[in-house]
Parts: sequence; structure tokens; C-alpha cells
Amino acid sequence: MKGATTDKMHTSVTAEAHANIALIKYWGKRSTDLNLPAVGSISLTLDDLKTETTVSFSDDLDSDRFELNGQQVDGDGLERISSFLDYLHEGPERPGAIVKSNNNFPTGAGLASSASGFAALAVSAASAAGKELSKKELSALARYGSGSAARSIYGGFAEMECQDTGSANSGAAKSLYDHNYWDIRLLIAVTSSQKKDVSSTEGMNRTANTAPYFKSWVQEQAQDLSDMRSAIAEKDFEKVGELTEHSCFKMHGLAMAARPPLLYWNDTTIKTIHAVWDLRKQGIPVYLTIDAGPQVKMLCKPADVKVVRQALETINGIEQLRCCKPGPPAKIKSTN
Ligand code: PMV
Repeated sequence: MKGATTDKMHTSVTAEAHANIALIKYWGKRSTDLNLPAVGSISLTLDDLKTETTVSFSDDLDSDRFELNGQQVDGDGLERISSFLDYLHEGPERPGAIVKSNNNFPTGAGLASSASGFAALAVSAASAAGKELSKKELSALARYGSGSAARSIYGGFAEMECQDTGSANSGAAKSLYDHNYWDIRLLIAVTSSQKKDVSSTEGMNRTANTAPYFKSWVQEQAQDLSDMRSAIAEKDFEKVGELTEHSCFKMHGLAMAARPPLLYWNDTTIKTIHAVWDLRKQGIPVYLTIDAGPQVKMLCKPADVKVVRQALETINGIEQLRCCKPGPPAKIKSTN
């Protein structure tokens, strides 16, 4: 076996990582090969949505195996895991891996399962391969699987920068504030648990290649990031909410202007958007964001959760409502 010491050969490592939701969105890639984002982003890691992943390498395996939520995965899903594991390995031959992963929420439906999934895989696979990586190195590694995963290495508020420093860790996220910094809530209205039709990678590439406003999206991001950093530093809830909503609608407006257009929303998504705006008219500070899927995520203060829930419960089509607090960083749970 190459790339790991003999005594680590069959070590099995289980890690846990939490999903994160971007408040300032990443959409578009500067390099598809290196999976480098075209814009920076700022996110909140969530306590309630998590992935637990166990990895073990073995010389006895001639190919990798991947099990997701108890089901064996082949084809593109397995290929994505195998290519990711290749980044970890130095040398010509890599031992086969057994990867078992479980999400406690719907997979591939715009709920950031790739963020928690690849962060948990980065932490467990690096350790199972006998590598001791810093958080920054783990974040850069997680990014190869999914750009948003780089942020899930950290708890609380994290920022993914987009400048390419040319170093191995370029394209890594960093922590802004940990999960104990600010007691806010993010409510998630699940309006469909179906897998999305267009993946975020395909959607981003289509947008970058065809949407007429892509250049200004990239140019304006630095200002949004700087405003969001200040708003979080000042714990200015309304400002954080307003910037979050602005970034969401800018991203989706851009995606809708792609050819053919990208529309990730369903009719319940739109009803939920209006419910949030109605609540704001009544003086409740609640703000929304939406990723590459139809789920609506709403930022509110702990004291307003009850009234927001009551308003959302009247909407037909919301399958599930989840309430999340800021979540902790990715970590190793056990080593056998
Ligand atoms: O990193 P990916 O491929 O999961 O794409 C993430 C895209 C968005 O969720 C829409 C935005 C973001 O920054 O998380």
C-alpha cells in the first residue's frame, strides 16, 4: 500500500460535519478542474443538518465502495467520491476505500448535503489515510468535492475567499465567528424532498456561460462580502437579513437569465417568500434565502420562531419545517 503507514492501513475513522447555508452566495466557478469559486461567500453552519461518514482504506479492495443512507451507490455518485479520494493520495496506487455516509436530512435537494457530505468525507478520509491536516488544509481538500463544503469545516460564520494565492490552500475557507457568537435561528421550509434536476455545478457553468449579468455579479461581490462582514461584526440583524435576501435574489435572477433559464423554485417556494414578506410588513424581522433547490431558509431571532412557524404552518405544500441554531465545526467522532 502506498501513501499511508502500514499500521494505519485498516483504520476506520468516523467524522461528522454540519451543513451550512450561504448568506452571501457563491455561484460560478473560476476553475472547474480545481473547483475554485468565481466569487467569495459567507455562510452560517447549522446544528440540525448533519452528515456522518466512516472511511476505511484497504489493500484488499480493487475498487472503492460507497454507501449513502444505507444504499449502495455506483456510477457518477461513486465516481465523485473516488476522484475526491484521489486528491488525498500521493503515489501511483491508492488502496480501495469503503465509505459509508448518512445524512439526517434530504440529499441533493438544495439543503446543502454536498457541503456537510464532503466536509465529513475530507475529515474522515484524511485521518483514515494517516494524514494530519490543519483546518485550512481540510477546507481546501473539502472544496475539491464541493465549493460550499470548504465552509462546513468551520462552525458558526465562515468565509470562503476567492483569490488564488497559488498555494496548495488557495480556495480554502476561514472562520469568522464560532457557533457561540450570536444566538440566531434559521428556519428551513422543505417544499420538496425530490433531487433537483440541474446540479449546482451544471447550473453555475450554464449561468457563467450564458447569463448577461454574470460579469457584474462577480464585480459586485466584494462589496456584499464587506458589508456582510461589518453587519455580522456589529450583530446588526436587519442588515444581515437584508444583505442575505439581496444576495439570494441576485443569484436567482442571474440563474433565471441563463439560457435555457434555471428556475429552482416551485409554487410553495413562492408562497413562502410572500409569507416572509407579509411577516416583515407586520414588523417581524425575518429574512429569506434559497439555494439551488426549492427550499426556503429564513433567518429570524429566537423570540420570533413561534410566530414565524405559525405563519408558515398555514401554507399547503411545506413538507417539513426545521429550526436550526448556529452549528459546530466538523470533527472526528471515533477511530477504530
Ligand atoms: O458547492 P456547491 O456545488 O454545493 O454549490 C453551492 C451553491 C449554493 O448553495 C447555491 C450557494 C452557496 O454558496 O452555498
